[in-house]
Amino acid sequence: MATTTTGKVSTNTTEAITQEPSYTVPGLTTKEGASVAQILQQRLNAYNDLHLTLKHAHWNVVGPNFMSVHLMLDPQVEAVRGFADAVAERIATLGSSPQGTPGAIVAQRDWDDYSIGRAGAIEHLGALDLVYVGVISSTRQAAADVEDVDPVTNDLLISQLGELEQFHWFVRAHLENAGGRLVTEAASTETEAATSAASA
Ligand SMILES: [Fe+2]
Repeated sequence: MATTTTGKVSTNTTEAITQEPSYTVPGLTTKEGASVAQILQQRLNAYNDLHLTLKHAHWNVVGPNFMSVHLMLDPQVEAVRGFADAVAERIATLGSSPQGTPGAIVAQRDWDDYSIGRAGAIEHLGALDLVYVGVISSTRQAAADVEDVDPVTNDLLISQLGELEQFHWFVRAHLENAGGRLVTEAASTETEAATSAASA
């Protein structure tokens, strides 16, 4: 247990989501419901992290192309907030308790905070390319992991993937050179991607 900034004692967020529910959707065992909810909790963390990160980039982008990138990001924020809402409500439908606090994201995520602050449009786009690679790859894995046990959750994740991949294309279209290659292709960190994008 940890003490929050408001002085309240918080429950262990990981424990709350792994607890087997007393009921779940018809046709699934409570154990299956718990395991799908646990997979969805990591999507909830990823989507909450992503919409906050996209807003951070929306606020911190500067320089040439400021306005187009600033404006491009807001519909993505709104859509990803909707994805978070949908997976949280699916967790509740499955009989578990979605963990939507900032503490849950930090305690349960296995990735680092976005590392770019005030920077040019192309640098943020380079870094966001890597952010989307991470979220899309892990969402594809989650969709595959639930495919047999819960086609309804699989369908939800597949529809979100289609939109995420389109947003990723919006980002990548800025990073493609005349030869059709991504200028970020050799980057393995956000900082490297930002630097590659800026120097291309
Ligand atoms: Fe704004």
